[in-house]
Amino acid sequence: MSELLLNIDQKHKDTLYKQIYNGIRLSILNGGLKAGEKMPSTRQLSIELSVSRATVTLAYEYLLSEGYLESRSGSGTYVSRHLPEEYTQIDRKSINIDGLNLTDTGIVDNVKDYAIHLYENLSYYGLNLKTGNYLDYATSDSDVDIQFGFGRPDLKAFPMKKWMQLMTYHAIRANLHLLDSPHEAGGYHPLKEALSHYLLKSRALPCKPNQIIVVNGSQQGIDLVIRCLLNPNDLVAIEEPGYLGAQRAFQAAGAKLIPIEVNKEGLRIDILKANYDVNSKKILKMVYVTPSHQYPTGAVMPLAKRLELISFAKRTGTIIIEDDYDSEYRYDGRPIPALSGLAKSAPVIYIGTFSKVMLPALRLGYIVVPEPLIDIFTSAKWLTDRHSPLLHQQALTDFLNQGHLERHLRKMRPIYLEKRRTLIKLLKELFGYRVNILGDDAGINILARFQTTISDEEIIQKARELKIGLVTTKSDYISKQVSGEFLFNYAGEPLPKLIAAIKKLPNIIY
Ligand SMILES: Cc1ncc(COP(=O)(O)O)c(C=O)c1O
Repeated sequence: MSELLLNIDQKHKDTLYKQIYNGIRLSILNGGLKAGEKMPSTRQLSIELSVSRATVTLAYEYLLSEGYLESRSGSGTYVSRHLPEEYTQIDRKSINIDGLNLTDTGIVDNVKDYAIHLYENLSYYGLNLKTGNYLDYATSDSDVDIQFGFGRPDLKAFPMKKWMQLMTYHAIRANLHLLDSPHEAGGYHPLKEALSHYLLKSRALPCKPNQIIVVNGSQQGIDLVIRCLLNPNDLVAIEEPGYLGAQRAFQAAGAKLIPIEVNKEGLRIDILKANYDVNSKKILKMVYVTPSHQYPTGAVMPLAKRLELISFAKRTGTIIIEDDYDSEYRYDGRPIPALSGLAKSAPVIYIGTFSKVMLPALRLGYIVVPEPLIDIFTSAKWLTDRHSPLLHQQALTDFLNQGHLERHLRKMRPIYLEKRRTLIKLLKELFGYRVNILGDDAGINILARFQTTISDEEIIQKARELKIGLVTTKSDYISKQVSGEFLFNYAGEPLPKLIAAIKKLPNIIY
């Protein structure tokens, strides 16, 4: 007999016998109780549930009279062997309301009512998720041989052996205390120390280790920012075009997004100043920026503009969310200091990630928060998922302290630069004046604007037939309609494969 899990609540609006009746019926309908399975005796169940035997008997009587149960004289009560198969085995695909597959409809007879009931109970956030399309780029694309749309590093070049050695080292040596949970919610302290050295050296960002919160990638950093600082209807300025992952997270939380144009110096601070400065009635809560390598245009914000943005933020109280997702890849000289490091007590939250420099699936990143926010963000992380995986944090600490990351970056920079330059040269040769390549010498993607009469959809479809994955920047814009603008993420594929794919494009973009 499988274990019968019934939740009986003395305070529930349904009587006790009804709760038992519903619970057993549901278990039969969803397959938890199998046809022909022996039921516990009424006595046994009454003891288990701490209810009177008469209550259980009444529930059994209803179930017997409706044919869910059958009694065999002298042997006890059984789940009916004659329930029609189609009644208990619900076809998942057949129940599809508003794109939602309902997998367990045993609770109510009317599937539509069931869905409506659940929808009516959605939170503000849940309702936003229901009405928007947030999963459109959350799946990997196995139909194509080369995918230009996703910004991934060269996974084959990653020093996996070294990484596995470090992981194994810590897994073997881990004492029970370290394998236990919870640990420091804000992150493994030695990692935070290593990160604070790394940030000072590579991003000119001085911060104390306890200002760093280790998170599961930038996306969780953005989520924590939203949880701690944003209310529905708050105004958030965001780059246009801008990073969809941030745009979607802000939208789901109910932010009013203000798209701000981007030029070759990144976000147009003059537009911010003209519309949202101290005398404006409209108060900006936050501005989300990618100053070190604007996504997706690739613009790098010059120092003067960074200082201007900081002084705007200080003047107006606007909080800057600085997403520094791939500035490690800067090919023409030293990177410009992070916004967070440029001014003391600037209202900046800095977000960094190891997705682009190590492995996207590692899901490790960090945020640097101003000192007054440390406890609040640490609490949010604690309530969200306690802490990021400790073994990974330990291995990453060694990876940083033993210089493996720096070595890896030193190795990859010239490789990516060669891919970048070859790609740009080839696109210019193939398309001449009909292509405009945007972006500074940084990052692992380029943005190409094509003059073409072919629609984006047709280009994408034709590319797909050639097993080439292309992605436009259409959804990176909020207020503007653009076409012919395609992203080329070049880091993940070998150069000959990149060249071969690019050479096919004039046949579909003309
Ligand atoms: C602007 C921007 N920020 C952050 C990320 C990385 O996010 P995560 O660290 O969650 O993988 C990306 C990845 O494409 C990005 O383009």
